Amino acid sequence: MSKAGKTRRIALINEKGGTCKTTLAVNLGAYYAMYLKKKVLLVDLDPQGHVGKTLGFDVRRLDKTSMDLLYDPHTGIADAAKQSRIESLDVVCANKSLSEFPVVAARHKDREYKLTRKLDNAHAYDMIIFDTPPSIGLVNLNVMLAANEIVVPVNITYLALDGCAEILDTVEQVKIDYKRDKLGVTMIVPTLYRNTNLAKEILDKLETYFPRQISRTVLGFNVKIDEAQSHGKTIWEYAPSSPGARMLEAIALEVDSRDPGRPRKRSV
Ligand SMILES: Nc1ncnc2c1ncn2[C@@H]1O[C@H](COP(=O)(O)OP(=O)(O)O)[C@@H](O)[C@H]1O
Ligand SMILES: [Mg+2]
Repeated sequence: MSKAGKTRRIALINEKGGTCKTTLAVNLGAYYAMYLKKKVLLVDLDPQGHVGKTLGFDVRRLDKTSMDLLYDPHTGIADAAKQSRIESLDVVCANKSLSEFPVVAARHKDREYKLTRKLDNAHAYDMIIFDTPPSIGLVNLNVMLAANEIVVPVNITYLALDGCAEILDTVEQVKIDYKRDKLGVTMIVPTLYRNTNLAKEILDKLETYFPRQISRTVLGFNVKIDEAQSHGKTIWEYAPSSPGARMLEAIALEVDSRDPGRPRKRSV
């Protein structure tokens, strides 16, 4: 049983690519395991397999992946979760095989609940963090039904507002269609922020439209974060005292302490 008695299930979702979903999933998961001593499970549901790659797994050669977890009735969490090089951080890796899932599961009556079912016995973890593909389809529907909280990283570009509103609408629709009252958007995290007038304008608008969800910390552009990923490392291993690490730490702590529904003030 997890220490708190209840496992938080947090999904990083945005149907656009390059919004820092994977960066946040990996670095937040590693932060909670390394510094807050939580038992964490990262589940990669993007066939690109970047979560596993960042943690040093050769994702093409694994016996069990998230495809097996979703699709094979005999594969449970204990079979698919691999211990990472970071203590208390387990990972279910993804690889290309996962792209078959929507096709092969299309006619299964329980196709949206495959992930939920497999998590029934995941009480050993304090936190389960899901990284997701940049699309809204059967895989993300499985995630939205299995998770309790959604964190939406939003790349601060001109189209960010539209994308963000769409995701919130999708979540509302899923809550209604599948009677998932407990599902909520815990946080919207502005990412890849650069100090320009347009970026400030977009950030102000996000804050006006989503005052309850917007995070206080904005993930600014920092090349160490990109370098860490290219070296197959978390920021805590690669550049723990970089500005990137400080921003990611602040976001990790904010997610950890967030009481959904309480308005917050932003500090950039
Ligand atoms: N704060 C940042 N500063 C600079 N580069 C970043 C930052 N956050 C993420 N990146 C880089 O941006 C790219 C996209 O990030 P990623 O987390 O993979 O996005 P997603 O999973 O949403 O597609 C990656 O190459 C990553 O290393
Ligand atoms: Mg990704």
